[in-house]
This record gives sequence, C-alpha cells and structure tokens, in this order.
Amino acid sequence: MLDHGQAPPLTARPVNPLLRRKPVERLVEEAGQGEGGALKRSLTMWQLTMISIGATLGTGIFVVLGAATPVAGPAVWIAFILAGLTALFSALSYAELAGSIPVSGSSYSYSYATMGEFIAWICGWCLVLEYGVSVAAVAVGWGEYLNELLDGTIGITIPETFSAPMGEGGYINMPALVVVLLCMVFLLRGAKESARVNSIMVGVKIVTLVLFCVIGFMGIKAGNYTPLAPLGITAISTAASMLFFSYIGFDAASTAGEEAKNPKKDLPRAIMLSLLIVTGLYCLVAFVAVGAMPWQKFEGSEAALAQIMEDVTGHSFWSVVLAAGAVIAIASVVFAVLYGQTRVLFAMSRDGLIPKVFARVDEKTGTPRANTIIVCLFCGALGAFIPLDELANATSIGTLFAFALVNVAVVILRYTRPDMPRTFRVALFPVTPILGFAFCGYLMWELPMPTWIAFGGWMVVGLVIYFFYGMRRSTLAVAAAEVPTEK
Ligand code: ALA
Repeated sequence: MLDHGQAPPLTARPVNPLLRRKPVERLVEEAGQGEGGALKRSLTMWQLTMISIGATLGTGIFVVLGAATPVAGPAVWIAFILAGLTALFSALSYAELAGSIPVSGSSYSYSYATMGEFIAWICGWCLVLEYGVSVAAVAVGWGEYLNELLDGTIGITIPETFSAPMGEGGYINMPALVVVLLCMVFLLRGAKESARVNSIMVGVKIVTLVLFCVIGFMGIKAGNYTPLAPLGITAISTAASMLFFSYIGFDAASTAGEEAKNPKKDLPRAIMLSLLIVTGLYCLVAFVAVGAMPWQKFEGSEAALAQIMEDVTGHSFWSVVLAAGAVIAIASVVFAVLYGQTRVLFAMSRDGLIPKVFARVDEKTGTPRANTIIVCLFCGALGAFIPLDELANATSIGTLFAFALVNVAVVILRYTRPDMPRTFRVALFPVTPILGFAFCGYLMWELPMPTWIAFGGWMVVGLVIYFFYGMRRSTLAVAAAEVPTEK
C-alpha cells in the first residue's frame, strides 16, 4: 500500500447520495484491486511518458496543422505555443493530483474524492466521450490515411462500400474496425507488453517528425516567414483554439496509476515530460513547415507535411514514408486511448457505478480482460457502423469539462487536505488552476451550438444511467446500507 495512512471506515452518517465522497485513503488503498485479481505494477516513468505521448501526438500535427496554417499564417507555431500554454495549466493540476491520488480513474477519481459521486459520474461519462467516442473517430481518420498510403504505394484504395458506414455511402468501415481489433489483441497481452508496443509506435512517430524537420529544413525560405501575422493577432488565437485538440491525451498517463511501479513520483513527471516533448515537436514541425511552404498553399491541403517532403526532395518516395509514419502515429493514438478508456471504466466499475465485469482482472496477464474486449468491440463497432459527426465534435467539450474539473479538484484538495503528502505541487497556486479553469471554460464557450446540443444529448443519457443504475449500486451506497445505524 502507498503511504497515505489508514483508510477511514465508511460512515453510517446519512449523506446526500449525490454528494457522497470517496476518501483519498480509500481510493489509494483499493488501487490495483479488481474482481478476482489485481493489476500488475510494471510501468516505468518512460513507459508512462510514452503512453501520454502515444495518446497525444497524431491527427493534430499530421492533419489539423494543415487547417490551422491558413488561419494563423506563418505564426502558426506561435499558435501551437499558445495552445500548449492552455494545456500546461491543466497539466500542472493533473500532475499534482496524479501524484497524490495515483489511481487509474484519472479525473473521475479526483472528482470522487473532492466533489462527490454525482460530479464524479459526470466526469467519468465525459471521459467516455474523451476516450471511447474519440477513439472511434480517430479510427475512422486512420482508415482515410491508410487509403492514402495504399493509393500512394500500390495505387489501390479500399472501396467506399467497405470504408464508410451506412448513411455515408457504404456498409461498414472495415479499416476502423480492424485497427481497433488489432489494438485489442496487443492490449490483452498485459500492461507491460502494451507499453512495449506503444513505445515502439511512439518511437516511429517521433522519428517520422524529426525526419520531416531535417528534410523540411533544407527547403526553408526566409521570405515565407514574413509577414509573421498577416491575418492579425486574433487569428493566431483562433488557430490556437483549433490546435488545442492536438494536446488532448497528455492526461493518459494518469489512467495508468495502478500499473505504475512508482506512481507518486513518476506520474507527475510523465505528464509534464510528455507535454514538454510534444510541445517542442509541434512548434518545430510547424516552424519548418511554414518555412518550407508558403502559408497560403496549406489551404485545402489535407496532407501538407507529405506534400512538403515531396516538394523539397522531388521524390514521391518521401511523402509515402511520411504517410506510413502518420498511419502508425494515428494507430498509436487509438492504442493508447483504448488503454486509457479501459482503465477509467475499471475504476468506475470497482466503485459500483457500472457493472462489475469491467473490474474483473485476468490472473495470468493482470489485465481487465473482459473490459478490454467489451470496450474494443464497442468502439470498433461505433467506428465501423455509426456516422459519428457531431458526437465526435462533442468529444472536445467532454475533454475540456474533465480538465476544468481537475483544476477545481486541485483547489478543493489543497483547502480540505492541506497536509496530505504531495510529490508535485502546482506552481503559483491558486492562480494556475484558476487560469486552467478559465481557459477550459473559454474554449468550451467558443464551440458551436450543434456541438453543445450533441454534448447535451450525451449528458442526458449519462444522467439516466446514473439515476437508474449507479446511484443505487455504488459501493458507497451499498456500504451505507449495510452499516447498522447507531441508536
Ligand atoms: N491529440 C490527439 C491527436 O492529435 C487527439 O490526434
């Protein structure tokens, strides 16, 4: 057990079910324990860092950069810094909480300890949007990249019938299903194996981007950098809000708290280190890209980085190399995000808010086997058969909402538990979490109405599940019912 002291007994004092909180000590004491087995602690600091980079670095830099450059002009790399700063405020709060409550539920568990079960459920339900629904959308994007790669190498593409769901001109999106099922096979082998596969894929995507920088550097023309902000300063902040998407995922390491060897020390480091590496790479890639190709040419170019490789070298071979790197990069986002989703559901299941099957652990591999299979089949089917459109857009609101709650949780815990051991402390408290909260709120506010409506629909479904299932079956509810009340 980690040194948090003895967990207090569950109280018989009647508590409003919506406000009942899970003490930090109890969350920590339960860490690792599942139904019929325990998760294995095997992950090192580097592997945790790779999980966060794995979940973060993908479509944002390979695809969204192309859309953000015509908005910001050559200053797009500054937009990356601004978006990174926004992420940094919340990352600091994540780092503090991951170091003090090192469990697998991430922001869901932090909310349970500070704001109570109802808010925790809402947060957990947002995480299903951030992880589960977004992974289906990313898997769909992966299929599109795969098609481009196949086209560039062997001149064949997967016909629409098998690469789009019903309602979008096909029957099934096979690539989306296949990539999720492949990830499932590796995830079932155990956290150690998964971390190894993830690290290889992360290595490939970092090498691909470094290669891009080296080749792109040779094509830089100083004139492409001026004027720096032809469309004005506000255009840079608009681009920054588009690019915030590319930072989503840095929190993934916080879902590995129960499989980390030394979570209290390593989780905060992994979260901060991954953000640093990713921000550095993003800025460098963006700086080279706008130096090598005039910013106006990014308009409508879906594979801008591949285009630059081809233009600079004069060989299509290099654009194929980049497309192959992107296929692996996006697959690794699918992989790391699926991992995160299974672990968040594991924690929610252990708390009784969703069925116990999600907390069942396979003795041999030390993984939540049934959970992994259910999550992968569900996400695979979602990507394969359902046009996600607005629901996919709503994932950013869900993510921002979870981030906002983490900033609130860090403040509450500092006031309610000032003496609790903390391996990492947010700098400039309370200014940093307040800014983190404000930035998340601002970015949510900026999102369009249809996205809010989709998010509202998602939340209604979540509330129905909570009031009809979780509220009664929560382990806190069951324990309160079992403890005899004092006469
Ligand atoms: N940050 C992730 C990506 O860019 C979601 O693909």
